Amino acid sequence: MSHASSPQPLTASPGKPLKGRIRVPGDKSISHRSIMLSALAVGRSTVRGILESEDVLNTIAAMRAVGARVEKAADGTWTVDGIGLGSLLEPESVIDFGNAGTGVRLALGIVGSHPIATTFVGDASLSRRPMGRVLDPLRMMGTQVVARAGDRLPLSVRGPETPSPLTYRVPVASAQVKSAVLLAGLNAPGVTTVIEPVPTRDHTEKMLKGFGADITVDLNDAGERVIRLVGQPTLKPQDITVPGDPSSAAFPVVAALITPGSDLVVENVLLNEHRTGLFTTLKEMGADIEIENIRETGGEEIGDIHVRHSKLAGVTVPAERAPSMIDEYPVLAVAASFAKGETHMPGLDELRVKESDRLAAVARGLEANGVPCREGEAELTVIGGGSRIGGGTVTTHLDHRIAMSFLVLGLAGEKPVSVDDGAVIATSFPGFRELMAQIGADISSSKEAA
Ligand code: S3P
Repeated sequence: MSHASSPQPLTASPGKPLKGRIRVPGDKSISHRSIMLSALAVGRSTVRGILESEDVLNTIAAMRAVGARVEKAADGTWTVDGIGLGSLLEPESVIDFGNAGTGVRLALGIVGSHPIATTFVGDASLSRRPMGRVLDPLRMMGTQVVARAGDRLPLSVRGPETPSPLTYRVPVASAQVKSAVLLAGLNAPGVTTVIEPVPTRDHTEKMLKGFGADITVDLNDAGERVIRLVGQPTLKPQDITVPGDPSSAAFPVVAALITPGSDLVVENVLLNEHRTGLFTTLKEMGADIEIENIRETGGEEIGDIHVRHSKLAGVTVPAERAPSMIDEYPVLAVAASFAKGETHMPGLDELRVKESDRLAAVARGLEANGVPCREGEAELTVIGGGSRIGGGTVTTHLDHRIAMSFLVLGLAGEKPVSVDDGAVIATSFPGFRELMAQIGADISSSKEAA
């Protein structure tokens, strides 16, 4: 499923302070994984608070296509009747993952370790993104791949009768690659080991444990995470509650920080240490952010984020923090536009292969709105604190986070900011515009604004 085919230009205008208490939709990473692991378990799982965005709906469709029964009850709870590892059905037609990198890469791990043939397609953005990073380890496990040059979508895989367990050192800092190998290892006899030199979000490991898999995580002498998974477990169904997505909370949080007079609480946000690099960085920049009401649910820490408008100062973001805020650099660049001085962001190679080349998309968007910046091969420097911010139109390149980031810029600049396509926001944050309106933000379709 792809988002609305006609682009929907939106314009954000400076206006009132942002105030209130809100909740953002469920965490995207946890939503994908909860559906996938439930589909591989034997019996009925329930999932509450799931993110019902296009990306996750594509994962639901994919798990249905391999035989899981996935339904939504009247009270909003999703039930998943799992098919059990090793019993996946061959899909009757092509699986369309739309814009969803996480969805397709994790699903490749699942189907690629089963003796079934599956073909994946995606939208123009997903069809440009590298899949070799998950296909390479799958090939080592015995998966046959037919793909376009450069291992891009559309592509087909057929898993072997008996996949070989693997010891794999993840060559890029990517939770998707780590997860794809672990999910493939689930259906391999013996122990699959993933060595992770740079730690990334650990939802797959945590959730696999919760579903009853025999999985351990240790540090080796070099300080690298070593994850060992014993293959072919019987996964037991679970009842899961998905917390709010910190990557979505980032937009109202930054909007409140840079809009004078704002005082906002975003409730029920996931605080996993591999996801909160943005909040750490913003505090270093002088942000008035307090985490209140910290509690635990399903093995994850959650809390309410209380943010007030603040005077910010530029910082250097340590490169090693990148994996814990990888999706938040576009909106950090927006915060940095309002900070005094320069904000340096090194270690951004992975931003080049997200839903868009985010490094370039952010740099062009800032330039279009009067914010000076320097774009390096793998780094960005934003020169903040200038005047006359805004007035430009930003090309989103089918990237939901570029769209939301620059709409946030438009709320606090001197002149409105337009994005060429707001329909892409449905990828991860359905109801973004309505929720922002609820706290006082002026975001309207560009025709209405004109
Ligand atoms: C995700 C991992 C990250 C992140 C993406 C979600 C996940 O991608 O950017 O939005 O759920 O595993 P990479 O694995 O490519 O870093």
